[in-house]
Amino acid sequence: MSQKNTMSSDTTSIQHSARQVAIEVISNILLQQGSLSTQLARHQLDVASEHIPLLKELCFGVCRQYPKLNSIALHLLEHPFEEKDTDLYATLLLGLYQLTYMNTPDHAAVNESVEACRLLNKDWATKLMNAVLRRYQREADDIVELLEAMPSIEYNHPKWLVKRLNKHWPDQLEEIIEASNTHPPMCIRVNESRVSRETYKATLMEKGIKSTEGEFSSAALYLRNAVRVTELPNFEDGFVSVQDEAAQLSAYILSPQAGDKILDACAAPGGKTGHLLEKADNVELTAVELEPWRMEKIESNLERLSYSAKLICADAAELDTWWDGEHFDKILLDVPCSATGVIRRNPDIKINRKPADIDEMVSIQREILDSVWTTLKPGGFMLYATCSLMPEENELQIQRFLENQKNATDVPLNTLAADFALEWGIPVSHGRQLFPSLESHDGFYYCLLKKI
Ligand SMILES: C[S@@+](CC[C@H](N)C(=O)[O-])C[C@H]1O[C@@H](n2cnc3c(N)ncnc32)[C@H](O)[C@@H]1O
Repeated sequence: MSQKNTMSSDTTSIQHSARQVAIEVISNILLQQGSLSTQLARHQLDVASEHIPLLKELCFGVCRQYPKLNSIALHLLEHPFEEKDTDLYATLLLGLYQLTYMNTPDHAAVNESVEACRLLNKDWATKLMNAVLRRYQREADDIVELLEAMPSIEYNHPKWLVKRLNKHWPDQLEEIIEASNTHPPMCIRVNESRVSRETYKATLMEKGIKSTEGEFSSAALYLRNAVRVTELPNFEDGFVSVQDEAAQLSAYILSPQAGDKILDACAAPGGKTGHLLEKADNVELTAVELEPWRMEKIESNLERLSYSAKLICADAAELDTWWDGEHFDKILLDVPCSATGVIRRNPDIKINRKPADIDEMVSIQREILDSVWTTLKPGGFMLYATCSLMPEENELQIQRFLENQKNATDVPLNTLAADFALEWGIPVSHGRQLFPSLESHDGFYYCLLKKI
C-alpha cells in the first residue's frame, strides 16, 4: 500500500513538472517571447528526459488546437484574463487540451489545472479554474456545436489566414488546412554519397523501422512511425538527415557539380547546405547566416556529415560585411518567410503570426534578394526558395524582382538537371508552388533565376 502511494505521488509530481514547464512555454508564446521551437529548446531541460515527450505533446497540442481552444476558453470566461495572468490563461488552455484531446482522466486534468494555480501563487484563481473546466466537462458538446460555424473552429486556423488562403488557393484550401492541422510525417534524406536509399531502407527494416520511398526526391524515405534520430542506423556517421521531401528538392534543382562555387545565403540550420555537399565532391561552398546561435547548428550538422564549408555569420543583404567580390556560380536563397507551408511543424504560427508579418517578410526578402543577386556571376543560377504559401513572398516577389532586374530571367526548374522530373506542386506565373500534403511533403515554393 505504502509503495503504491509513493509511486503514484512520484508520477504525479513528475507530470506536474512537465505541465508547469508547458505553462511557462505556452505563456511565453502567448506573450510573443519566442517561437515554440526556441522555447522548447530552452525549457525542455527543466523536465526529466522521460517526460520530454509529454511536454512536447502538451505544447505542440495546445498550439495546434489553439484557434479552437481559444474560442472555447473565451466563451467560457466571463472576463478574459489580464496580460499579467497569461500564465493562468495558458493553464486553462492546457486543461481544455487535456480534456478534449488526451487520455488524462477528466478529474486529473481539472485537479492538475487547479493545483497549477497554487503553484503559480495565484490561489485566488483556483475556484475560477475549477468552475470553468467543470462547466466545459459538462457542456463540451453543446459549446463546440454552438461555436462550430466560426472559421477558427471549422478550420482550426486564424480567421485572417483562412481568408488569405481561400483568396489565393480556393481549390487547394481544404487540402492545405487538413494537412496543416495534422502531425507531419517523419521524412529522412539518405546520404546517397555513402549509401543507396534501397540499402538504407533494408537496414531500417532489419531494425523494425518501416519506411516508404518519397516520390520526388530519390533520397527521401518516409518512416511509418517517427523515431528518435539516435535510433536511425549510422545517424552519427552522417548516413542520413531528417529533412522534409520538399526541402530536399533544392539540391536536385541546383544540381552541384565538381568545382562549383556555391553560396547558401540564409543557411541555418544547414539542412540544405549538407545536401548540396552530398551531391558532388569538390564543391566550394560558402554559408551565410544571420543568427550566431543558428550558425552553431550548421557547424554541428556539417561535422556529423563530415563536410566543411566557409561559414560566415552576417546579414546576407550587407555585402560589404561578408563578400570578398568573388562571384558565385550558383546561389541558394532560402529566405526567411511566413512559414505558412510548414504550420504543422511550427503550429505556434497559429498563435503569433499576424498579417503585418507577411508584409515585413516581403520587404526583408526583397532586400536580401536584391543584394545577393550582385554576387552571382553572369550566366550563373540562383534558386529562390520559401516555405510559404503566400504569393507575395513567392511568385509576386519574383515578378517584382524581374521587373527591376533586367539581367534576370526565370528558367525551368530542371534547367540544371534535365532528367529531374517536375511532377511536384503546380506551376505558377514564376516557379512552382507545393502545398502541404497529408503523409507527404510540406508547402514550399521554388523559382530558378538565371543571370543573363
Ligand atoms: C528558412 S531558414 C533557412 C533554412 C536552411 N536553408 C535549411 O535548409 O536548413 C532562413 C534562415 O535565414 C536566416 N536569416 C534571416 N535573415 C537573414 C539575413 N538577413 N542574412 C542571412 N541569414 C538570414 C534565419 O536566421 C534562418 O536561419
